[in-house]
Amino acid sequence: MRLGTASRSRDPAAPLERPQPSDVHIWELDLRRPPAHALDLLDAAEQERARRFVFAIDQTRYIAAHGWMRQILGRYLGRAPQDLQFTFGLHGKPALSGRRNDASLCFNLSHSLDKALLAVSNGLPVGVDIEAIRPDLPDSVLAAGVLTPGELDELAQLPPKQQTDVFFACWARKEACMKALGLGLALEPRSLHVGMIPARQRVLSDHAPDYIDLSPLPSPSGHAAALAVLGGFGKMLYRQASLPGRSD
Ligand SMILES: CC(C)(COP(=O)(O)OP(=O)(O)OC[C@H]1O[C@@H](n2cnc3c(N)ncnc32)[C@H](O)[C@@H]1OP(=O)(O)O)[C@@H](O)C(=O)NCCC(=O)NCCS
Repeated sequence: MRLGTASRSRDPAAPLERPQPSDVHIWELDLRRPPAHALDLLDAAEQERARRFVFAIDQTRYIAAHGWMRQILGRYLGRAPQDLQFTFGLHGKPALSGRRNDASLCFNLSHSLDKALLAVSNGLPVGVDIEAIRPDLPDSVLAAGVLTPGELDELAQLPPKQQTDVFFACWARKEACMKALGLGLALEPRSLHVGMIPARQRVLSDHAPDYIDLSPLPSPSGHAAALAVLGGFGKMLYRQASLPGRSD
């Protein structure tokens, strides 16, 4: 994986060049700072979903995440964020639909507390996951429910102080794979062996036609994150979208 940096633009609507066919762009989103008029960027279904959150903080984060997602995808496609249309896979994975060229822009979103990541590619199926690290986890029931026997052994051999961070990094890598496949939690997590070492690796799954190219991602403090790409990728470009009215 080669990490690139992005040029800065202060125009929130400035067009973005699609990723090269082998590359993936990762956007780090700060959900405390939604884009301007974020609620207006969402479609009726998203607005309805936003209304149903019990806690205001969850509603704010959801609106920010979907506002940023639409604004950034719209910049790649040269379209207004509110005009984008989505279709959903059998297990809920969203994909762009509508106009002919839109569907080839692949993406995946993940959010945890105030942070979100958006992975964007030009045709490569991607899955991304970010997890806020909880110091009280994993307990033995959770670990046994999601780790392979080999992973459980590896975890048990680590000093207890390291186990929480390593577990969350492992879980982010697993979930990124499950999301790249579009299966999410419909895939039994113990069917994927990703191990405890956060290195780029090839993961095999009966559900992947070839292999899953799995990579840890730089993550904001207190979080673990990972990217999975079906069939492999070349370069990754990491960008931040944090201030209202600007996107990188
Ligand atoms: C997808 C899933 C793994 C998300 O886990 P999570 O850690 O809670 O959430 P993350 O923040 O990492 O990802 C959520 C985002 O992933 C995307 N997503 C949803 N389903 C997905 C799937 N099957 N595969 C990949 N991505 C998916 C969406 O963009 C979603 O964002 P949204 O909730 O704001 O719309 C989990 O919710 C799941 O397995 N859902 C499937 C449920 C299902 O089978 N539904 C069938 C009927 S639709």
